[in-house]
Amino acid sequence: MKLIVEPAKAPLTGHCRVPGDKSISHRLAMLGGMADGESLITGYLDSADTRATLAAMAALGAEISESDGEIRIRGGRLRAPAGPLDLGNSGTGVRLLAGALAGHPDLHGSEIRLIGDASLSRRPMGRIVEPLREMGARIEDHAGCLPLTLRPGPLIGIRFRPRVASAQVKSAVLLAGLFARGETVVIEPGPSRDHTERLLPAFGVDIRRQDAEIHLPGGQRLHAGRFHVPGDLSSAAFALAAGLLVPGSRVVLDGVGLNPSRDGVLRILAGMGGQVEVQPGEMVGSEPVGSLTALHSNLSGLEIPPDWVPLAIDEFPVIMALAAAAQGATVISGAEELRVKESDRLAVMCRELARLGVRVEETADGAVVHGGPVRGGAVDSHCDHRIAMSLAVLGLVAESEVVIDNAEWIRTSYPGFVDDFRALGALMRWEEGV
Ligand code: S3P
Repeated sequence: MKLIVEPAKAPLTGHCRVPGDKSISHRLAMLGGMADGESLITGYLDSADTRATLAAMAALGAEISESDGEIRIRGGRLRAPAGPLDLGNSGTGVRLLAGALAGHPDLHGSEIRLIGDASLSRRPMGRIVEPLREMGARIEDHAGCLPLTLRPGPLIGIRFRPRVASAQVKSAVLLAGLFARGETVVIEPGPSRDHTERLLPAFGVDIRRQDAEIHLPGGQRLHAGRFHVPGDLSSAAFALAAGLLVPGSRVVLDGVGLNPSRDGVLRILAGMGGQVEVQPGEMVGSEPVGSLTALHSNLSGLEIPPDWVPLAIDEFPVIMALAAAAQGATVISGAEELRVKESDRLAVMCRELARLGVRVEETADGAVVHGGPVRGGAVDSHCDHRIAMSLAVLGLVAESEVVIDNAEWIRTSYPGFVDDFRALGALMRWEEGV
C-alpha cells in the first residue's frame, strides 16, 4: 500500500499517546507465559510483531485472553507446539524466544522450529546460536539464519562477552540461563537496553549487576505479576522529529518510557539543536516514564559520537531524515549494526534520501547526510516499518508530495501511526492497490 504525505501547511499541535513499548511487550509475553500464575498486562503493544510473540506463547501452552485493552496470561506449564513458531518480522521475538526455550524443563525431549518472514530469515542468528550452543543447547540453524530447530535439553551456565552491544543477544543468553545449571554471567561490551534485567526481578528472579557484568543463578522459577507497558520512545521519536521540523509546531507526547539505556535519541536531538522538553514522571514498575514536548527548532548537523549509537539504535532512520532537513552535515559512524536490522538501514536510507534530492554518502559503518532542500517524489519502505515512518516524517517538509510504497509495514510496530499524525494536523492518506 502507498502512503501519500503532503507538505505541512500548518503547525503540528496537540497531545499524542504513543503505543506501548515493543521491547517490553515482547518480554512480558514471554515471561508471563513462563511464569506460574496469571499475569495481567495493560498497555501491551498491539502490533504485528508483538501479536506474533503472543501467538507463539499461546502455541506453547500459555493461556492468553484479551479484554478492554488488558491481556491476561496464565503461564507456568509449557508444551511442545503442534507446528513451527512463526515470529514474522521480529528479531526480538525470535532471538529471545530461542534463548528462553533452549533449556526449558517442560520442553526437554521435544523439537521446536522457529521461522519468520523473508526479512527475518536473512538476519544473523549466529550471534545467539553460538553462545546457546556453548551452554549445551541443541540448536540447528540454516547457514547462520532461520529456520532454527531447537531440541531443548539441560544447559549449563557460562561466562559470555557478546561481540556487539546487543540487548537481544544479552537477553537470549540470560533467558536461557534461567533454566541452566549454575550461574550465567553476561559481560556487556557496552551499554544496551536493559529491560530484561529490570523485568526479571518483578517475576521473582534473582539477577544482579556488577558494573558491566550481569549475574544470573540458574534453576529459577518465575512468578506472575501485574504490569503496565510504558509508551515506546522509539515510536515517539517520529512525532518528536515532526514537531521539531514543521514550523510553529508544539507536540506533546505523554506516558513515554524514558529508560536511560534508550535515551540516545534525546541526546542526538538536543545535539542537533532540537528543543525537546523532558518532564519526568513516576516510575511505572521498573521503568522511568514521563512526558516529552517537541517545539519547532532550527536544526543543525551533528557528528554523532559512536558510543551513543547503541542507545539510539532504532532511531537512526528518523535521525537521518531529520539530518536531511537540518543545516550542514550529520556524520554517523560506528553504526554497522544498522545493516542487519529489518533492512540494511544505512543503504536503504541513503538510497531513498537520494531519491528525494538529499546529498548523502554511505560509509562502511555509517553515513554523512548533508542537509538541504528536500524534493517530493516516490520512495520505498523496503518492507521496513521504521524506514516508512521516517520518510513520512520527512515528507511533511518536502517541497511537494512524498509517496511511500510498501508503507503498510508500519503495522509491524505502530499501526496507529497515520491516525496519530492526522490528529496532530498532518496530511497523510493511504492509497490502496496502486
Ligand atoms: C531490541 C534490541 C535492539 C533493537 C530492537 C529491539 C530488544 O536490537 O534494535 O529493535 O528488544 O532487545 P539489538 O539488541 O540486536 O541491537
